[in-house]
Amino acid sequence: MKRHFRVWRGDATGGRLEDFQVEVNEGEVVLDVIHRMQATQAPDLACRWNCKAGKCGSCSMEINGMPRLACMTRMSTFADGETVTITPLRTFPVIRDLVTDVSFNYEKAREMPAFAPPPNLRPGEYRMQQVDVERSQEFRKCIECFLCQNTCHVIRDHEENKRAFSGPRLFIRAAELDMHPLDARTDRKDFAQSAQGLGYCNITKCCTEVCPEHIKITDNAIIPMKERVVDNRYDPLVFLGRKIFRRRGLDEPAPPSPARQPAAVVPQTTTLDEQGRLPLSEFTFERPGAPSPYGEDVQFPLPADGISYHHPSEERPEIDQARD
Ligand code: SF4
Ligand code: SF4
Ligand code: FES
Repeated sequence: MKRHFRVWRGDATGGRLEDFQVEVNEGEVVLDVIHRMQATQAPDLACRWNCKAGKCGSCSMEINGMPRLACMTRMSTFADGETVTITPLRTFPVIRDLVTDVSFNYEKAREMPAFAPPPNLRPGEYRMQQVDVERSQEFRKCIECFLCQNTCHVIRDHEENKRAFSGPRLFIRAAELDMHPLDARTDRKDFAQSAQGLGYCNITKCCTEVCPEHIKITDNAIIPMKERVVDNRYDPLVFLGRKIFRRRGLDEPAPPSPARQPAAVVPQTTTLDEQGRLPLSEFTFERPGAPSPYGEDVQFPLPADGISYHHPSEERPEIDQARD
């Protein structure tokens, strides 16, 4: 059966909707139809895709005005005879046809301080409760399709807000790290509020609605982060506690380990570049919260006997005896 499609064709300088009549077979998804268009009528139609399984996050586009993954949108979603209009993501600049430049999201991700384990922990000493694993597991399902970013009204129609707003995908990353029991940074909440623009979000939940991984972005990440910001800034007990007791941990240098070179503890200060952005911690191997638990001079892969996954006599002496 042939169906009517309207597809946006163009580039950064402008474009228009083009009409196509394309055959559609039972069980097909919109990406199948785009491939058929490329094969039979428009070989130069640009479209980004990769896995065709809803896992790479590449095929994000707007289908009848709704941000969706083309490979996960069944043609049976639409009524018989309904025209299907396919346009690129609106929040990001068009490169060509259905392909947009999503580098905004990667720039925001690079501004974010990396996971920082406590200075005194060695490999093998990482312990997490199952409840903490489960809490961040939801956020780690993100496939970086950026449909949530595309939907968020703070930047969708306001290019000028992009500098000050990281968007829901980065808010779940902030929440994931702030809720991580082994992340030693204490400034995640301040960073979310002042550098990521958490305050711009007015919890409309549009981002949650379009997430193909069904991550409860607003309920489980943004609202808890907002609550943590309020606790941190305005709770009088927390304020007094901070004044009276110095927070232990990052201020104290790590004791030198006999097995490793002592690594310098980098203080928790954020040095902005001339464009007001944070340094690219993950790429420069700068550890803002703590040194690498492996030591900064370690070559990978580590030799097997250099890794200590178990610490004798601390917790399970019976197993040590059995091994000896
Ligand atoms: S809930 Fe916040 S982040 Fe999500 S779309 Fe609305 S304003 Fe944007
Ligand atoms: S949070 Fe959901 S919508 Fe946003 S990038 Fe991740 S998978 Fe996509
Ligand atoms: S092609 Fe990978 S998510 Fe659609």
